[in-house]
Amino acid sequence: MEPLPIVTVVGLGKIGLTLAAVFANNSYRVIGADINQEVVESVNQGKSHIKNEPGLEQLVSNAYKKQTLSATVKTSEAVSQSDIIVVIVPVLVDDQNHIDYQYIDLAVQEIAKGIKSGSLVVFETTLPPGTTKNRFGKKIEEISGYRMGEDFYLAYSPERVYSNRIIQDLKVYPKVVGGLDGKSLELATDFYKRALECEIMEVSSLETAEFSKVAECVYRDVNIALANELSMFAEKQNVQMSEIIKASNSQPYSNIHNPGIGVGGHCIPIYPYFFINKGLDQGLTPLSRQINDNMANYAISKVEKEIGELEDKNILILGLSYRENVKETTKSTTLLLIDQLKDKKANAFVNDPLFSNSEIEKFNIKPMSIDASEVSEIDVVILQAFHQEYENLDFKLFNNCKVIIDGRNKLDKNALSKLGITYLGIGNDGNVIQNTND
Ligand SMILES: NC(=O)c1ccc[n+]([C@@H]2O[C@H](COP(=O)([O-])OP(=O)(O)OC[C@H]3O[C@@H](n4cnc5c(N)ncnc54)[C@H](O)[C@@H]3O)[C@@H](O)[C@H]2O)c1
Repeated sequence: MEPLPIVTVVGLGKIGLTLAAVFANNSYRVIGADINQEVVESVNQGKSHIKNEPGLEQLVSNAYKKQTLSATVKTSEAVSQSDIIVVIVPVLVDDQNHIDYQYIDLAVQEIAKGIKSGSLVVFETTLPPGTTKNRFGKKIEEISGYRMGEDFYLAYSPERVYSNRIIQDLKVYPKVVGGLDGKSLELATDFYKRALECEIMEVSSLETAEFSKVAECVYRDVNIALANELSMFAEKQNVQMSEIIKASNSQPYSNIHNPGIGVGGHCIPIYPYFFINKGLDQGLTPLSRQINDNMANYAISKVEKEIGELEDKNILILGLSYRENVKETTKSTTLLLIDQLKDKKANAFVNDPLFSNSEIEKFNIKPMSIDASEVSEIDVVILQAFHQEYENLDFKLFNNCKVIIDGRNKLDKNALSKLGITYLGIGNDGNVIQNTND
């Protein structure tokens, strides 16, 4: 039997480990490279360190048994044995929203030290257009002495999956692939056809593929901002936004998204800066960022209008995660809410069933369990992430609560009113709407 081709996946996070496990179950031998020793050790024991990704633990265990998946902290050594290198190390923004390449730059240096002639390097990390070639391709040339397009090949293929359904999305969404040149594109397309068995969408350049992923995120941010803007106006007009969305979207050209208390996570609130910082600093893209980040402030001002100053009020935020049912805090709206409540000298608390008390305390906020003795002191509840645990929350326990602001328009207004709690939604809501753009 012919030996399997070897792929190194650099970065074994939520996405990288999933890709590595899928490739290792589809005719490749995979070496995962990560700087985190604990991650490497768990993979080398056949275990997934990512727990809430359906199907992943099984795939890692299968690949371990077949001996097609191993891991190392020695990236350059792994790269030196590989024909294909897939890079999925994050690029984020710092507190000033400047692009932060520090982790991926280190990964690229290691790749450049180990790369052998004829290898293909594919970047999957979301990147500002031009980065694959001008920053990483050039860095590999500089360190290795090889020429891109001659001694090694370069491609970009954005990762478009959604947490909690990564394996399913990898099969369903077309894999967009751009190459430095014809040979790079051909090698990358052949690889993904075999490794993912999904539809491939070839595009004409690296930059087109890079741009397409950032554009998807900007599209989402701008459309959520529009929904938020319309919702704030709907409140002034005394109409229900949920009803409006249902009516407007009954025609195929309208696709109004759900409004909400804010946009979090490591994609939508971050990637617009990949355009804003490269010159798209006027117009809808930066304005939408501003509108969406202002929603936390808007929600708090609605509460203040209802009950006056928040000083010394006990306020419980439901959900530290940026969205429902995931344990992720990057750019969570809760962090914006905490800052604002502190400025207003309120006593802020956070509940999140996915985090331990000590994990919540790391954000300089007091954790609170949903327990009659604790929540009976609460004056205001802010629903930020609608985890499944909150679906049957008993608001009778909150017997001093005056106001609930439902940041996700998921709660039952009538039931809360019967308990004497004033309900405030985004867009005057209280009717649960199920929009497909959630
Ligand atoms: N998570 C998502 O929902 C999602 C969705 C679509 C696209 N993406 C893309 O995938 C990228 C990775 O996301 P993730 O959720 O897997 O991130 P993650 O934070 O879960 O994992 C990143 C991994 O990279 C490792 N790492 C950091 N620096 C390294 C280096 N120099 N060398 C080797 N490993 C290094 C870390 O130790 C960590 O294990 C994102 O930046 C984004 O571009 C993510």
